Amino acid sequence: MLSRPPDWLPLAPLEPLHLDWLTTAGVEVAILRLDQIDPLISGNKWFKLVEHLKAAERAGAEGIISLGGAHSNHLHALAAAGKRLGFKTVGLLRGHPQDTPTVQDLRAFGMQLHWLGYAGYRARHETGFWTPWQAQYPTLHAVPEGGGGLAGALGCAAISKQVDEQLAKLGWDDFDTWWLACGTGTTLAGLALAEKGRRSLYGALAVPDDHGVAPNIESILAQAGDTASGYQLIDASRGGFAKVDEALLTFIEQTEQASGIPLEPLYTGKALLALRQRIESGGFAAGTRLIFIHTGGLQGRRGFAATP
Ligand SMILES: Cc1ncc(COP(=O)(O)O)c(C=O)c1O
Repeated sequence: MLSRPPDWLPLAPLEPLHLDWLTTAGVEVAILRLDQIDPLISGNKWFKLVEHLKAAERAGAEGIISLGGAHSNHLHALAAAGKRLGFKTVGLLRGHPQDTPTVQDLRAFGMQLHWLGYAGYRARHETGFWTPWQAQYPTLHAVPEGGGGLAGALGCAAISKQVDEQLAKLGWDDFDTWWLACGTGTTLAGLALAEKGRRSLYGALAVPDDHGVAPNIESILAQAGDTASGYQLIDASRGGFAKVDEALLTFIEQTEQASGIPLEPLYTGKALLALRQRIESGGFAAGTRLIFIHTGGLQGRRGFAATP
């Protein structure tokens, strides 16, 4: 059994974001610092894990088995949570053994690792993929890649509540729009379920259009019996997942200097740059109030060469 119930829900600080291009456009932005909820279990990952951990507990599991790459923010948060809360974790990794800073942490946190190769990892959506793993680890609860699915989305509903609870300290009674990076769209789907069309939602795609983000969001909403969408997906991938270029790196460096807020190039940097482009092309009228979600991921940038 998971030794402690996963009832830890830290509050992410909500802060005004001051950047010259926002001031010029007259758009007010506040940033929800999910990167600050904990030094190790950071970002949207904890929210995406909460309901999976509860399901594992209900099933009487001793821990969690899940999948990811050698820089995976999801496996990192899962392994850290396992160490902190005292449950067993097993990670199935994409590709062949590598020694990235993330992988070193996974081992240090006590996660047991299996490298599946590339073809083996591609088989993760096939029927029967989990059968041998369930036979090998019968006491572990399987969580899909990235902590996705309806359970992952439901945990993200808390993000909307945390923002509402902190609006007064900004002097805001409400706001117009959410803006956040999307990898699978699970976090956005969770917000859409919580918002029920109250405020518009923009998902800045960190992956190319053919990665199935829209169908994934639709499938989660359908499973929850919700068809009200109220969200829009914007291409922010800059040519592909994990592709970086000089303009992105310069933007991140300048933004970090101007705001003191750390960004990484895969999700948050791309999402904020896409917001700037949207604002500069007149996408939001002066007076718009917007919440940008910092979805974390800073651990991943350690193993990422800072050159395009
Ligand atoms: C730092 C970071 N931001 C955003 C996302 C996207 O979240 P989602 O997969 O829920 O769209 C991820 C993971 O995919 C992530 O690691």
